[in-house]
Amino acid sequence: MITNKIQDAKEALDKDEIIGLPTETVYGLAGNIYCDQALEKIFSLKKRPFYNPLIVHIKSIDDVFKIAENIPEKAIQLANSFWPGPLTLILNKQSHISPIITADKPTVAVRVPNHPVALELLRNIDYPLAAPSANPFGSISPTTSKHVQDYFGEELSVILEGGSCLNGIESTIIGFENDSPIVYRLGAISIEEIESIVGKVAINNHSESQPTAPGMVSKHYSPRTRLILSENVMEDVEKYNKMRIGVISLYQEMNHSSVISTEILSPTKNLYEAASKLYAAMHRLDKLKLEIIIAEVLPNNSVGKSINDRLQRAAKEQ
Ligand code: TXA
Ligand code: MG
Repeated sequence: MITNKIQDAKEALDKDEIIGLPTETVYGLAGNIYCDQALEKIFSLKKRPFYNPLIVHIKSIDDVFKIAENIPEKAIQLANSFWPGPLTLILNKQSHISPIITADKPTVAVRVPNHPVALELLRNIDYPLAAPSANPFGSISPTTSKHVQDYFGEELSVILEGGSCLNGIESTIIGFENDSPIVYRLGAISIEEIESIVGKVAINNHSESQPTAPGMVSKHYSPRTRLILSENVMEDVEKYNKMRIGVISLYQEMNHSSVISTEILSPTKNLYEAASKLYAAMHRLDKLKLEIIIAEVLPNNSVGKSINDRLQRAAKEQ
């Protein structure tokens, strides 16, 4: 049930249940990090493979010292710059962190979400929350409480209302090798912003899709409707003109008899606005019984890079 009551969320979590949690990036499926039963439920609800670890959500930077150890100086600099906010750090875990959260890795993913509802909840409970995005494995992430209800309405007693997610795309994930930062997932904070704090960073953006276990597919963030990426949308609309087409475009309306609906991400070409609208646009188009979604490749800088990354994964055939 969708509710505004933090107290209802607290009571559900205290009973080892999991809840729908708003954050500034996407909604999460959250449970007590110290309750293995809740953690296992997160994986089973999402149909997520156990080798894909979860992110720990904490209320403030001080709490990171209770979760992680041997934290690199540059991680502290990044945390000071971006927390609360859409930055996830991969750090050496302390021994009390459950291997269910970390998929048996020696590292743990941590972030402080920048959402008033999430922060108020975290201040009212005495444990951090493990939370992946609240979508079945491989499908489009949720950016409204309604998206979460559509996916998991039956199974969740509490979905906390937090409005539409302001960033609308997942957190940027940074890990460390020999204390040097490496980008594991492009996200809501651009590489340019990260580099303004810690200098040049390497990008290993394959960790989300690279087989950490055999058979893991790279298809991700996907609508059920086939989606293709396009450098020239008008040309591709002509090419597929026998189909029922949906278009995702940065700022241009597409007037063509085969185009059933166009989703404009930002009339002013603002890439942050585009990121905030991307998933809701994909959810809407996916309901229209289209035969194909043609998504425009966005300018490949700032968060445009992160949006292109998600569109590429959504467009993967398998
Ligand atoms: O914005 C976000 O990060 C959202 C909100 C709810 O906080 N959460 C999210 O979680 O996107 P999820 O589970 O959909 O993505 C977490 C990513 C996964 O790709 C996982 O592989 C990676 O974090 N991850 C978690 N722990 C890791 C670790 N120890 N080493 C490397 N990658 C890790
Ligand atoms: Mg996810």
